[in-house]
Amino acid sequence: MESAGLLLVLVLVLWNQTTGSGVQLIRDPDRNSSAVELDLSAVIHRVDRRFLSVTIDASLSSEEKFMSLLSSPKIRTLAKALSPCFLRFGGTRQDFMVFSPQRSHQNSGSSEDGSCDQMELPSWLEDKLKKDWTQQQLILIREDLQRKYRRVKFTEYTVDLLNSFSNCSGMDLIFGLNALLRTADNIWNSSNAASLLKYCESRGYRMSWELGNEPNSFQKKAGIRVDGYQLGQDFTCLREMMSRSRLYHDAGLFGPDVGQPRDHRADILEGFLQTGAQAVDACTWHHYYVNGRDTSLEDFLDPKVLDTLALKTKEVLKKVKLVSPDKPVWLGETSSAYGGGAVGLSDTFAAGFMWLDKLGLAARLGLDVVMRQVFIGSGSYHMVDENLDPLPDYWLSVLYKRLVGPEVLKVGFPGVAQRKRVRLYLHCANKKSYRGGAVTLISMNLGQKPASISVPAVVSSNTVEAFVLQSDQPGEEGLYSRLVKLNGDVLKMVDDKTLPDLKGTRLPPAEHLQLPAFSLNFFVFTDAAAAACM
Ligand SMILES: *[C@@H]1O[C@H](CO)[C@@H](O)[C@H](O)[C@H]1NC(C)=O
Ligand SMILES: *[C@@H]1O[C@H](CO)[C@@H](O)[C@H](O)[C@H]1NC(C)=O
Ligand SMILES: *[C@@H]1O[C@H](CO)[C@@H](O)[C@H](O)[C@H]1NC(C)=O
Repeated sequence: MESAGLLLVLVLVLWNQTTGSGVQLIRDPDRNSSAVELDLSAVIHRVDRRFLSVTIDASLSSEEKFMSLLSSPKIRTLAKALSPCFLRFGGTRQDFMVFSPQRSHQNSGSSEDGSCDQMELPSWLEDKLKKDWTQQQLILIREDLQRKYRRVKFTEYTVDLLNSFSNCSGMDLIFGLNALLRTADNIWNSSNAASLLKYCESRGYRMSWELGNEPNSFQKKAGIRVDGYQLGQDFTCLREMMSRSRLYHDAGLFGPDVGQPRDHRADILEGFLQTGAQAVDACTWHHYYVNGRDTSLEDFLDPKVLDTLALKTKEVLKKVKLVSPDKPVWLGETSSAYGGGAVGLSDTFAAGFMWLDKLGLAARLGLDVVMRQVFIGSGSYHMVDENLDPLPDYWLSVLYKRLVGPEVLKVGFPGVAQRKRVRLYLHCANKKSYRGGAVTLISMNLGQKPASISVPAVVSSNTVEAFVLQSDQPGEEGLYSRLVKLNGDVLKMVDDKTLPDLKGTRLPPAEHLQLPAFSLNFFVFTDAAAAACM
């Protein structure tokens, strides 16, 4: 196939109230269809190979015993399927954590000599920790509501566990240091970080670093104001410290993990960039669509809400490009709703629309990494529930990893009528799973009526593999479900060490593609022979 430029795809959105399954296709381009343009000739952006990444909130170590949950065989199995990715350990409590070494760590969870399978958490202990964690969450929520944070001491145990977990899962660990340890002159006091780096270096832990979480709200959280200009200097100090280290002289440093732009807090990023841009390998910011305590199902399916990410992203990119044109920009922490997520929404099938759209939009706009808050732990935006069983967003993420490559292609969607309910993104397929030239169309139907996409033979002439994700329950009620079906079958782990086969359905060539009501879909055109994906 030659590098054909624009391919026209007709998207026909239709609905059929009479039958549930056999949807009739209305091929009428003049009425309810809109022409979609796929450009298979050029890559418009290439994201990091770890694009979809995850976080663990620092609150997991608010009592250190909870870190042991990271030795659960089930959690390890789930984590492995998400690699390669970054694992960021950070969040509000990172700026209240002080490293307090105990120097008696023969029994630490470190993974020397590849002993990844040797320190499994016994199931009785796992059960006890899961129960205690439920109680602990109430304490954490109270702290968050009152904005009163205790100083938390952590020992070697926390870092050992993080290291063995990330190393054994194939994740790259990023550790968020406390930026609120400050001198009388309001300069970062690096002495505690120095002692932590020294310990990690002595153990040979390969990891990257961050400093401070949402510094724009330090005043609210701790009554300390740090301006961007000073923060940039603090980062420069950390970078110098790292450059003196044998192990960390070329390790990653990312920051400043600012909250999303709002009118009154625009300046911290600008100040930071002036003094700190040189010190960081990527500029990080955080994004949430809505307030978890004040949102609804409608927001989760609202294209206008989903589009707000584009505005914020463009604002941040503009600022960074001005000062540091080649600096990668990452979403260093992100999820559907802030304040711990939206109860009953952020952990259900409904959350997938915000998550998949964020992945699609962020890549298209040129962000390189997106770190999902959280893999396991606090709030209701976790990917793994309180029993450590995977939630719908976990399965969505695993599929994304397997099917979607880092090369972003262009999808034009000039029509307006359908843009509301159907959203599309296009990437090269993941070359680990598919041969060169294959492309993956990411699509979602936000509406309660089925839609259909008609793809020209030049893309679909041979095999199309469909991965259709739907709630296990029909209709709007189903959106609140914590179970998801792939091509009709509910996804569940086979056992604690085995994920199910995530098989696609092969569709006959040149068929139109069905997007069921409220569905998240990946279509892999294995023989598209896209020039950009060879
Ligand atoms: C086309 O779409 C409009 C608005 O979405 C709708 O009112 C109309 O009934 C549709 N026409 C057909 C033929 O489906
Ligand atoms: C795990 O640690 C070993 C030893 O330090 C290192 O060689 C390996 O690259 C690490 N793997 C990952 C995925 O970090
Ligand atoms: C930095 O913190 C350490 C304790 O962690 C303290 O001993 C030292 O005096 C502090 N340095 C400054 C300049 O405040």
